[in-house]
Amino acid sequence: METLLTTEPEEAAAFIRRGEVVAFPTETVYGLGADALREDAVRRIFEAKERPADNPLIVHVADRAMLRQVAASVPPMAETLIAHFFPGPLTLILPRAPAVPAVVSGGLPTVGVRMPRHPVAQAFLAACGVPVAAPSANRSGRPSPTTWEAVYADLAGRIPCILRGDRTEVGLESTVVDCTGPVPVVLRAGAVSLERLRAVLPQTRLAGDTAEVLARSPGTRYRHYAPRARVRLIDAPEEAMPAEDAAYIGLVPPPEPRAFGLVRVCADADAYAHALFDFFRRCEAAGLGTIYCQRVAPEGIGLALMDRLHRASRA
Ligand code: TXA
Ligand code: MG
Repeated sequence: METLLTTEPEEAAAFIRRGEVVAFPTETVYGLGADALREDAVRRIFEAKERPADNPLIVHVADRAMLRQVAASVPPMAETLIAHFFPGPLTLILPRAPAVPAVVSGGLPTVGVRMPRHPVAQAFLAACGVPVAAPSANRSGRPSPTTWEAVYADLAGRIPCILRGDRTEVGLESTVVDCTGPVPVVLRAGAVSLERLRAVLPQTRLAGDTAEVLARSPGTRYRHYAPRARVRLIDAPEEAMPAEDAAYIGLVPPPEPRAFGLVRVCADADAYAHALFDFFRRCEAAGLGTIYCQRVAPEGIGLALMDRLHRASRA
């Protein structure tokens, strides 16, 4: 299959309206979208990504009218989060409306809904005219794509169209908050920090033990965000062993930066989050064997960053 590259949201949206899949930019990572109301279209996402069928997808909406199409109801806590964080990098788990086929949610009675704030994503969703189900646009088990080139590397020949945009602003995926219980529960840390959620809903908690996350969000059971190189987490930069086939990323420079194949020193945790997945892919392209990643404090975006680093390091 030929993969068309376009910068026109309208041209990309035409594929969605025909029931095909399209990769598009958002403020977090690139998504691989299909008409969320068409089962045949949604199945194409799972095929292109080779994604396990029980891993639920996030439905992207342009406005409140689309949100009403996909959610059977919107609990008061979700209204509060919508008022503060939509559009933006936040996904809410809500009761699923009957119009949304079960395949979207891996059979769960709920649906993940997000309204991106990226202008190209907004123009694309408005042009589609339907809610768009989209996971990250990587092959299953690979790091999420933060550039259209990364999407191309993973999915060229497997999807008919990529809507080209800039490198994504945040670099990590949205925060996923379950709003179907008595209090909001963070199922996946992400771009909207726990601190910011608690500032508006103090009762918000992190899904504690693994069993709870697995029961509520099956996707988290799969190995994620994994580059082909071995990822080693370290506290002090001195723990990184300088070698030509090793890479280093962190907030503080390693002792002998020139002895490493690749080094990225980030000004703060936001810059680290922005750089991480692209750095993983660069290390891979350079054929490096080990990537040393400096740990950060689990505050703000640091909580999401540490979550992704832990997953990538679990081989
Ligand atoms: O930033 C993002 O969220 C990106 C962009 C494209 O929007 N999307 C993304 O999708 O990261 P994906 O499929 O890679 O991750 C979706 C996460 C998974 O952990 C999945 O288990 C969870 O959201 N999820 C989706 N629907 C759910 C549901 N109904 N109940 C529980 N968890 C759900
Ligand atoms: Mg993903």
